[in-house]
Amino acid sequence: MNKVKIIGTGSYLPENIVKNDDLAKIVDTDDEWIRTRTGIRERRISEGENTSEIATKAAIRAIKAANISVDEIDFIIVATSTPDNFLPSTACMIQDNIKALNATCFDISAACSGFIYALDIGTQFIRSGRADTILIIGAEILSKILDWKDRSTCILFGDGAAAAVLKKSETEGIFATYTGSDGRLGDALECSAIPVNNPYVKRKAEKAKAVVKMDGKEIFRFAVKIMEKSIKKLLKDSGYSADDIKGIIPHQANFRIIEAASKRLNINLDKFYVNLDKYGNTSAASIGIALDEAVRNDIFKRGDKVLLVGFGGGLTYGGALIEV
Ligand code: UT7
Repeated sequence: MNKVKIIGTGSYLPENIVKNDDLAKIVDTDDEWIRTRTGIRERRISEGENTSEIATKAAIRAIKAANISVDEIDFIIVATSTPDNFLPSTACMIQDNIKALNATCFDISAACSGFIYALDIGTQFIRSGRADTILIIGAEILSKILDWKDRSTCILFGDGAAAAVLKKSETEGIFATYTGSDGRLGDALECSAIPVNNPYVKRKAEKAKAVVKMDGKEIFRFAVKIMEKSIKKLLKDSGYSADDIKGIIPHQANFRIIEAASKRLNINLDKFYVNLDKYGNTSAASIGIALDEAVRNDIFKRGDKVLLVGFGGGLTYGGALIEV
């Protein structure tokens, strides 16, 4: 089985900063509530850029950091819940933008666990010998599926994109991956698409409202439990202990979720990398943005072992133990 390494990362966030006080002008909320309940201070909200555009910018940065030619890319895997279109896939649009014409391209849907799922899928393609070089991307313009009248959701999310290049390697860089799903809890976080509407439908089509609806408490409980389970599983499968790990990059949803998981695992909170105060929850992009930021700011250096752990709509979950 081939060994796999992440050889470059990149991210991109829209320039427009929306602070908690700005949201207080739109919905009945305030900075103090948002900060104390979530840890979020501000987020980036697109002024028109769509998912494929921000994903392309993140991809170009990752390709540059990896120092590869676009012709080397065998697969482009994009995790997103907010594609530009049903067709073509966001991955195919990015392929055209960067001219990575040797790649097979497809999107996956795993909500906030998308970056982890893409990392796992890409890793397996390289392990099996099917591919040498894979571009994975998590990208979301969540702002287009938010109900901007619903204060319980619109304050949580932000737009952003992250990418990483995976490559066949002489030394191991992915020590364990783990994924799972629980479709029974799907309605805890949902956003409908379009209903069936054709000349043959027997029931009258309901008008779709493509906005996020969420049972925040259900997701909170699930997140804390599954973060604990995923981290324990990754440590066990890899044979490493928490002391061998330089840091943990959790999905950036809510600081209180991270705090609760840290307590349950008895792992110091300082080990958890947090940037949700600046970007909010960017769903499939969040772990990748944090990874890129931490690597570029030398918080994690070459050779450090880092745990990635995520959860999201579906419900979905998973993680990876990697070397940066
Ligand atoms: O990627 C996964 C995405 N989802 C998540 O990570 C969500 C996980 N869940 C959470 O982060 C939390 O459950 C929330 C931050 C969404 C909510 O926090 P909470 O402590 O569970 O608050 P709550 O829903 O129990 O609401 C408490 C009160 C309610 O008022 P009443 O009924 O007590 O009068 C809400 O109406 O806070 C009210 N509230 C707000 N007040 C001011 C809800 N949203 C807001 C708001 N500003 N934005």
